[in-house]
Amino acid sequence: MTSKNGTEPIYKFYINGEWRESSSGEKIVVNSPYLNKPIGSVQAITQTEADEAIRFAHKSQQEWKRVSLQERAKYLYKWADELILMQEEIAEIMMKEVGKGYKDAIKEVARTADLIRYTIEEALHMTNDSLTGDSFPGGAKSKLAIVNRVPLGVVLAISPFNYPVNLAAAKIAPALISGNAVIFKPATQGAISGTKMIEALAKTGLPAGLINLITGRGSVIGDYLVEHNGINMISFTGGTKTGLRLAKKASMVPLVLELGGKDPAIIRSDANLEEAMKHIISGAFSYSGQRCTAIKRVLVMDDIADAFVSRLKTEIEKLSVGSPEQDSVIVPLIDEDSADFVQGLIDDAVDQGATIITGNKREHNLIYPTLVDHVTEDMKLAWEEPFGPVLPIIRISSDDEAIHIANESEFGLQASIFTNDINKAFSIANHLETGSVQINGRTERGPDHFPFLGVKGSGMGVQGVRKSIESMTREKVTVVNLY
Ligand code: NAP
Ligand code: G3H
Repeated sequence: MTSKNGTEPIYKFYINGEWRESSSGEKIVVNSPYLNKPIGSVQAITQTEADEAIRFAHKSQQEWKRVSLQERAKYLYKWADELILMQEEIAEIMMKEVGKGYKDAIKEVARTADLIRYTIEEALHMTNDSLTGDSFPGGAKSKLAIVNRVPLGVVLAISPFNYPVNLAAAKIAPALISGNAVIFKPATQGAISGTKMIEALAKTGLPAGLINLITGRGSVIGDYLVEHNGINMISFTGGTKTGLRLAKKASMVPLVLELGGKDPAIIRSDANLEEAMKHIISGAFSYSGQRCTAIKRVLVMDDIADAFVSRLKTEIEKLSVGSPEQDSVIVPLIDEDSADFVQGLIDDAVDQGATIITGNKREHNLIYPTLVDHVTEDMKLAWEEPFGPVLPIIRISSDDEAIHIANESEFGLQASIFTNDINKAFSIANHLETGSVQINGRTERGPDHFPFLGVKGSGMGVQGVRKSIESMTREKVTVVNLY
């Protein structure tokens, strides 16, 4: 599946059951965010190769949709097993490629195997519906509608860098179990981890053409794929800007978009501050804040703000900073541009009068965990998604103000409320314009069978095991007219 050029491996793409080199002759070098050297390269495929992949996908899907669920399940169970067998190899690559701590990378692979198994079981236990005509006025009892779900055809799965295995499998598994074929386009930084995951799938003997891994820069082949008339559904996870572009380009195909966020944590005066603090530290800083669901702003009541900020400072200064190989919490960001962007947000806030409580130190793309107090609504840091280890504190004086600032955001992924007053928690939750609200817990996607969605600039459609299966199938109604 790989060949060597100099010292670093060259990874092939995978279509119709074959590992191939692109006829473009072009490779994209993948640099490690912390080793500061290339770790391999992937193929920059051509439009003709993309056409070929989509053609093969259609052909194989025609057979696959007829294969029984139990039979499909066997391949996917084997995939989960193969991933676990390759767990350390995949985690090592993931660590090097996207700078995720080794233990977290190991967990990502395990979580993915669990997700695949749960997806299979969910699909096996989904039932069809039936209705008789006579429940509608004038309808006849002799009419029976059988409503079942059928696959959409060829699913285009586009994944982001930060969960290169889990967020890709979260699209591929529901697509395959429900009878679709897949064109998988991983993030370029993340494509090697994605390739390893597909190696595991290829080992199952899955019929050729059902899974096709195509690599290449999204800015070069992305539009072509999205606009391709051979694509029947698109499942995309990535930034809001890319998602918006994609939504404009996609024609009449079902689309699920999981995009960026600016998740607020609202800290009421009656909260258990020790608990809230623990959730905020891990919510905001794990993997250097490179999670869509990271806590990206704290809205804290004035009367407890000084004490809370001081506790946060103490805990932030204990965070390990360094290399993913030592499982540091704070690791170099995915690239220099991302670090420049985060630094720009911090600088803008400081220029406009915010106070640095700790951090604001940088070595190349490693940004030290930074706590910024007295952030106000005229600062970019109050609104923009940093995807880095910086946490703004916005002081508030009422629940209404918290709700207002939370909802002013262009994003609407998740929000947290920390309080001991459960009635207040529900009342605030009811007013928040987000896909999910966490009461007394950090914002996070899992467990993976929960529906997961963003509203406004955070997305469209719903993921989470069952919802993903539903999004990749459609209802088919067969009406029997009994004599
Ligand atoms: P990104 O830059 O938007 O890239 C996401 C994917 O889109 C990559 O595979 C990328 O390929 C591809 N792409 C780029 N241009 C495209 C185009 N014109 N057409 C089709 N595809 C295109 O995002 P990222 O930097 O990888 O991930 C970080 C962002 O994703 C953050 O905003 C984060 O909040 C969000 N995210 C959201 C969720 C969620 O579930 N809500 C989960 C994870 C991440 P290339 O890599 O080749 O450019
Ligand atoms: O980056 C976006 C992921 O969907 C976040 O998943 O909350 O489990 O870290 P997580």
